[in-house]
Amino acid sequence: MNAQIVVVGSLNLDRTYSLGRLPREGESLHATGHAVASGGKGANQAVAASRLGADVRLVGAVGADAAGTLLLDAVAESGVDVTGVHRRAGDATGEAVIFVDDEGQNLIVISPGANATVTADDVVSDDAAWVLSGFEIPDEAVIAAAHLALAAHARFVLNPSPYRRIPDALAHSIDVMVVNEHELIDALGTSVDSSSDTALLQARARLDVPALVVTLGADGAAAVTASGVFRAPGRVVTAVDTSGAGDAFTGALVARLASGDTLESATLFATQVGAHAATRPGTQSSYPTSDELDRWLRG
Ligand code: RIB
Ligand code: NA
Repeated sequence: MNAQIVVVGSLNLDRTYSLGRLPREGESLHATGHAVASGGKGANQAVAASRLGADVRLVGAVGADAAGTLLLDAVAESGVDVTGVHRRAGDATGEAVIFVDDEGQNLIVISPGANATVTADDVVSDDAAWVLSGFEIPDEAVIAAAHLALAAHARFVLNPSPYRRIPDALAHSIDVMVVNEHELIDALGTSVDSSSDTALLQARARLDVPALVVTLGADGAAAVTASGVFRAPGRVVTAVDTSGAGDAFTGALVARLASGDTLESATLFATQVGAHAATRPGTQSSYPTSDELDRWLRG
């Protein structure tokens, strides 16, 4: 059970509804399209990395229901080792309801189901080189992921999304933190001007992590270390569906770091993968292989 990258995270059945615009409070709207697909931040990140050639194992939980089977099959189909994904007889598989408007913007509501049952006991040792975790599973499992990294002398990457307070137990165990601008503001408890290098340098110091990577939507991403700020420019694309674009970014970033890239070059690459994902419908369905990405970048 040894993989280069272990992702300890969530799996959700994504129910995506396309709408001309997002609904207002109290409003009923007719969807113009509906799709059911494999999603969840952990599974998305694992699939993104695996499609790009990384050796990935996913640890998590689904229900013993049809949705759970669909997710396991889909994730395995992308080459991810799913032997660490447990099936819980008493729980439903996690679900996400996603509204996507004509501009590709989204609203997501998650029902965690089996994701809420992931415990430290599910996180068994592995001599991975990189461990990635996020916040669609309980703190206890995220902390166990950090411990796994420590025991394996691996690097630990945290994507605190959806944001909640970062447990004290994770202090000094995070090598790379990946956040979007909203999560950065939540983590700092104050607004931050992400166009200012000084502000980003201060943010990294306050969060006390060696490397902070901030995704900036159409403006690309910034990789911040004590020695400076590297900015990967955004690609001009027509966004079709940005849901899961951040997960594509994070999976691609870790895939490249695991293959020995510098943080800067991995960030540049991940920005391209995230942009690609935003131009295609769905989450995992929008993630490229290396060949697909090359063709798209040349096209
Ligand atoms: O980041 C996108 C993901 O968030 C979706 O796949 C959905 O399942 C939610 O977890
Ligand atoms: Na997409």
